[in-house]
Amino acid sequence: MNTLLELRNIEKKYGDDVIISKVSFTLAKGTAIAIIGHSGGGKTTLLSIMGLLQRATSGNVLVDAIDIGGLDSYQLANLRGQYLGFVFQRARLINSLTALENVMAPAWFIRRGDKIEQQAKDLLERFGLSHRLDHKPQELSLGQLRRISLARALLLKPPILLADEPTNDLDPALAKEVAECLLTARTEGAGVVIVTHDLNLANQTDQTFHLENGTLKPIIYDNAAS
Ligand SMILES: Nc1ncnc2c1ncn2[C@@H]1O[C@H](COP(=O)(O)OP(=O)(O)OP(=O)(O)O)[C@@H](O)[C@H]1O
Ligand SMILES: [Mg+2]
Repeated sequence: MNTLLELRNIEKKYGDDVIISKVSFTLAKGTAIAIIGHSGGGKTTLLSIMGLLQRATSGNVLVDAIDIGGLDSYQLANLRGQYLGFVFQRARLINSLTALENVMAPAWFIRRGDKIEQQAKDLLERFGLSHRLDHKPQELSLGQLRRISLARALLLKPPILLADEPTNDLDPALAKEVAECLLTARTEGAGVVIVTHDLNLANQTDQTFHLENGTLKPIIYDNAAS
């Protein structure tokens, strides 16, 4: 099965406001896609539906061919744990835990031995945070919080990675490192969805979509013209 994630005719309303309108989409193994669009256009809403964090008003979401429509919250949490890594636009770290503990949090429920702590430290080192392992979120900058959130999402090598503006608040060198991390997950078979305003990052994915008036439109690059 090559499709990791599928949306069929997804609609999302808040009250009478239609935010997402009949979006259909598939994410294949080993591919990365970008979603761009104006602020308030529904990108975070769409990503949170893909990440099983909120339900659509109508339509179907399938993860590895499992339709989530009939699942209860416990089953959804299990599916999220098994398949999904999420880099939130607002880092959503646990304030009472240190940076290292936050990165390791998804592993608490899945015993994978002592190696996991070293892997968490290695990720934080890769993102230039070795000197901040014991700091709590309130003692960290926005860019540092974002990198910790990314390390947390990558730790268990989930098959589906969803990242909401992952390079915001980062200087160009760190933004490059973060982009590389997300994009190389493809070589291990992951499917990656990146919401971004960073066109340079979008250009490095396999396909870019524009979310406009609640619908997803593929952007066709005219390579011959460049
Ligand atoms: N829980 C909610 N209840 C009501 N309206 C909401 C809710 N969450 C989001 N919205 C509205 O839905 C619209 C889309 O929000 P969303 O956060 O998905 O946009 P976005 O494309 O991610 O924007 P940005 O680029 O600024 O992050 C906005 O108009 C927002 O006010
Ligand atoms: Mg957003």
